[in-house]
Amino acid sequence: PNVIFVRHSGEEIAIDVKTGESLMQAATRQSIQEIVGVCGGSMSCGTCHVFVEPDFFEKTGEIGDTEDVMLDLTATDRRETSRLSCQIVMAEALAGLRVHMPESQL
Ligand code: FES
Repeated sequence: PNVIFVRHSGEEIAIDVKTGESLMQAATRQSIQEIVGVCGGSMSCGTCHVFVEPDFFEKTGEIGDTEDVMLDLTATDRRETSRLSCQIVMAEALAGLRVHMPESQL
């Protein structure tokens, strides 16, 4: 299913994310430079931060305690719909999901 990644500039990139794959994995596999993912998905780097469009936020699931702590430590300040993209796992219900990427992850 497709996920739309929106750059800080407003440019939109449609990426195919396989069911069961995380958004971070799909974005790094397809060389989206704004999604860094240094820790490989173990919630310890915060360089996969995205802002989920509000309409989709609930569908992306609950924020766990570890993710919650890490979201307070990201380079770009956390917002209401911030998530770690390594913790958003693709499912059919998320087809068409739109996420915005911060200008910087470092
Ligand atoms: Fe490191 Fe998501 S990849 S926190």
